[in-house]
Amino acid sequence: MERNLLFPQVGGFVHGGDYNPDQWLDRPDILKEDIRMMKKAGINSATLGVFSWSVYEPEEGVFHFDWLQEIMDNLYEEGIYTVLATPSGARPAWLDEKYPEAMRVDRNGVRNHHNGRHNHCMSSPVYREKTALLDRKLAERFGKHPGLILWHISNEFGGECYCPLCAARFQEYLAEKYDHDIDKLNHAWWTTFWSHRYSDFKQIEPPFTNGEHSIMGLNLDWKRFTTYNMNDFMKSEIAVLKKITPGVPVTTNFMKLYDGLDYRVMAKELDVISWDSYPKFHNDGESLYDTFGEAAFDHAVMRSMKKDKPFMLMESTPDLVNWHPYNKLKRPGIHLLSCLHAIACGSDTVQYFQWRKGRGSFEQFHGAVVDHLGTDDTRVFQEVSRVGSVLKQIGPAAGSVVKAEAALLFDWDNRWAIADMPGLANESKNYEKTCMDTYKEFLKLGVELDVISSGDNFADYKVLVAPMLYLVKKGMGDKLKSFVENGGQLLATYLTGYVDEDLLCYLGGFPGDGLTELFGVVREEIDTLYKTDRNQVCFIDGTCAQVNDYAEILRVKDAKVLASYQEDFYQGTPAVTNKQYGKGCAYYVGARIGQEAMQNLYINMLHAAGMEQKSLPVGVEFHVRSREGNQYQFYLNVTEEEAVISGVKGMDLVSGKTVNDTLVLPAYTAAVVEI
Ligand code: GLA
Ligand code: ZN
Repeated sequence: MERNLLFPQVGGFVHGGDYNPDQWLDRPDILKEDIRMMKKAGINSATLGVFSWSVYEPEEGVFHFDWLQEIMDNLYEEGIYTVLATPSGARPAWLDEKYPEAMRVDRNGVRNHHNGRHNHCMSSPVYREKTALLDRKLAERFGKHPGLILWHISNEFGGECYCPLCAARFQEYLAEKYDHDIDKLNHAWWTTFWSHRYSDFKQIEPPFTNGEHSIMGLNLDWKRFTTYNMNDFMKSEIAVLKKITPGVPVTTNFMKLYDGLDYRVMAKELDVISWDSYPKFHNDGESLYDTFGEAAFDHAVMRSMKKDKPFMLMESTPDLVNWHPYNKLKRPGIHLLSCLHAIACGSDTVQYFQWRKGRGSFEQFHGAVVDHLGTDDTRVFQEVSRVGSVLKQIGPAAGSVVKAEAALLFDWDNRWAIADMPGLANESKNYEKTCMDTYKEFLKLGVELDVISSGDNFADYKVLVAPMLYLVKKGMGDKLKSFVENGGQLLATYLTGYVDEDLLCYLGGFPGDGLTELFGVVREEIDTLYKTDRNQVCFIDGTCAQVNDYAEILRVKDAKVLASYQEDFYQGTPAVTNKQYGKGCAYYVGARIGQEAMQNLYINMLHAAGMEQKSLPVGVEFHVRSREGNQYQFYLNVTEEEAVISGVKGMDLVSGKTVNDTLVLPAYTAAVVEI
């Protein structure tokens, strides 16, 4: 079967990372040594030029590209491909000196001094012009280079700008969104409250620290605008490159569940999704299994943005970072395990920040493949080389994809809305954690979840869980109804359907938009529990579960009551229900109950959907990648004990051995079983 590789030139998994030869141009010996060592470590790609603006253009209008030509040529001769970044992530000093408008203004209205990186104004016409010029020159000079496989747009887009240019664009954005009708905005934002009506779009300011924060709709639209404006900046870069090199794919590197940007909007402009993953392995607070579980959730978020192709692990550390609260080394074996974990979750690349440690400045002690020691016999170098050879061994799996039949609904604007909602208890809202905990519960059952948005097609799935879906866009009611009607298993929880996309409360009972009919329940009140408060629900099968944080008081219309509260004035009232609707079933869980009790509900849903679950030893993750005719089963033992898994048959590409029913995985190891 055809392999559909992300980069056919490379021929399999990509192994590489950020390479900064511009810091070493006076050390040709080191540049030469780099290539020798890259080959030794099984590196086939290098990400160049991420922060090279001041070397490309040391003074305005004076360009130097020959050094890059030489580096790319030398790498290519040795079979190492280039991911070429546009350098807009950091500006040279001359640019800020001459064009201060390129520097961001913070939430207090104060303009930055020249500093750091990732902090340009997204609206500044001068900055866009300077970036476009450099991008055009790079594309003209290197666009046809046989080593070039991908454009990497800027670096880790993020942050906000409150400068006058951005404020004016915010007003234009709002005028456009509300059809130039200020009363539409007044209605959506409910501004008659506290006499906050506007009579002109020009009166609206971004939410400065000492400015307007009491209009939830304004806060949410500001978040949406920031995504719009960042995306618009990114598109301005992409347009230049696509014009000159239409055949070269583009990406930008995302950051986990970064709160500041709705990545799903940006994903539409990209050919491939990539992200930077730096889990806190071996922290004191949680088990390794939980750390991996969180990383698996993050990978699933990325994977689900383009389900038909693999994503890229654009950055990870081969060793340690320099910005965690405690910068612990990865213990021996963890590096390969975490790389295989990314592959298991759907990545076709393992890339690092960074190839070689710099001598000075902010990241001099950040992990890298090559240490200041400079040799190829270090523990880290050897662990990286091991990854290089394992990636070759499991090469046949490249291009295959993860196909999930269950999904978790996670919307960026829902998370923003919950965080900003004045009510409940800020410290226990925990929307993201609740989604992650849900994901981990399915992981324990060996069931893969995609993490999707309310804009996605639900018909691709049999099971859908939507924790805390506070913001329900108009039309979602019908979409969820038809999902269940056609046989889908749906689960929603407390806090579902309180507001629409403008953050206006639904009238006539939550969950709104027709969902009271689907679930057969109406929420009348929600109780917020102190950390020390407890309630309990007991199910009809006699099992009970503790309630923490939130408890909704429900009126049941025509649903089956599965569990009721045991304490407080709402003792005996329904807490968990389900309702058959068409060919499917809709569960409503009105209280935050332990995941163990939730797991029983998930199992019921999987069972009704005809989906298999696996019985896995504690601490073993299971993922599957496939393409027509091939299946690759990944078993990862993320514990410090040996794990024994039975019922496994096939060829383990990592060990090269045939598994005939019993797979034994020593601590921190993984198998990739080809079926
Ligand atoms: C981010 C950046 C890199 C580097 C690493 C350090 O991912 O993109 O340039 O700073 O963090 O972990
Ligand atoms: Zn700005």
